[in-house]
Amino acid sequence: MPAHGPTETTYRAADDRYEKLEYRRTGSSGLDLPAFSFGLWQKFGTDYPYETQREIVLHAFDLGITHFDNANRYGPPHRAAEKFFGRVLSRDLAPHRDELILSTKAGNPIGPSPYLKGGSRKSLLTSLDHSLRDLGTDYVDIFYSHSPDPATPLEETVGALVSAVGSGKALYAGLSNYSPERAHEAAELLRAAGVPLLVHQPRYSIFDRRPETGGLLKLAAEDGFGLVVYSPLAQGLLTDKYLDGAIPQGARAHNSAFLSPDAIDDGYRERAKALNEIARGRGQSLAQLALQWVLRQPQVTSAIIGASSTWQLDHNVTALDFPPLTEEELALIDRYDGSGAGADA
Ligand SMILES: NC(=O)c1ccc[n+]([C@@H]2O[C@H](COP(=O)([O-])OP(=O)(O)OC[C@H]3O[C@@H](n4cnc5c(N)ncnc54)[C@H](OP(=O)(O)O)[C@@H]3O)[C@@H](O)[C@H]2O)c1
Repeated sequence: MPAHGPTETTYRAADDRYEKLEYRRTGSSGLDLPAFSFGLWQKFGTDYPYETQREIVLHAFDLGITHFDNANRYGPPHRAAEKFFGRVLSRDLAPHRDELILSTKAGNPIGPSPYLKGGSRKSLLTSLDHSLRDLGTDYVDIFYSHSPDPATPLEETVGALVSAVGSGKALYAGLSNYSPERAHEAAELLRAAGVPLLVHQPRYSIFDRRPETGGLLKLAAEDGFGLVVYSPLAQGLLTDKYLDGAIPQGARAHNSAFLSPDAIDDGYRERAKALNEIARGRGQSLAQLALQWVLRQPQVTSAIIGASSTWQLDHNVTALDFPPLTEEELALIDRYDGSGAGADA
């Protein structure tokens, strides 16, 4: 019996799973990704019931979400989300491994050891081996340097990504949270080594415009990599769940170390309500508006969403079914960008 448990499954993948989503080309590579990817950052550790987590992941696959974004850090505790996914892969998704794009990342701290953090060759490549064991697969599709490490030569970090691809343990290389300047340098090194940078993974949402203002969108087009953007809903702040001021039981602002209840203040509510009105005027929800907003950029290949229910997934993946945002609507949305603008509305 495999390490991850029983292989018996009642799961049958939906026959129409490739008829629901848009698939987009990742930069100048040959790889298509679904417009929506699914991330296992939160609520996929040992803190939530396995059967609920499994139902969400399998539902995502039935919706056409082929890309699952993971990291050695995700849980809690660290590594738990990969172990969880390994169980689902072994029990339910193994027949579909060729249809899956599995991503993992290394470099952010997962323990006190100097080898459990940073961009060294030791940290990245031992973490990749560990992730492969936890996921129960021979290779991941995308291996990321999770964050830049200024204390390690970029050549060493990039060299580790090149080795990961060269050894067949990863098919493509990615970067996350790198500044445009550092990403460009890394992209040049990767290109010279014959392993073109596939993707950059930045945070991007109506409330965090740095990929626009800092030049990353422009660089992606010039350097030919795709952007797979995270927290497009600002962890749930760009939905209608916090509009009345109360924090619903079980919501992320209630139970996550990464979203403080203090974020739900008067300034936030004012901006979110104004954005919600714009969404309602278009016949969609705030969540759908926020997802459509990030995906309007041609350089954005995919938006990585999280979900704590199958309802959220069903709701969110219809975001592209609405008419494109007009210039007037975009200008209006710009007034509520999270920087405090919009108080005049
Ligand atoms: N590279 C990096 O450094 C990095 C950093 C962060 C994230 N990521 C990746 O990006 C993924 C997505 O990040 P994220 O989870 O912050 O994305 P997000 O899509 O901004 O937030 C997802 C959360 O919002 C809430 N939500 C979603 N749809 C909703 C709806 N229709 N109505 C109400 N609430 C809704 C849910 O939380 P609740 O229901 O629990 O409130 C859900 O878990 C992560 O899983 C990870 O893979 C990468």
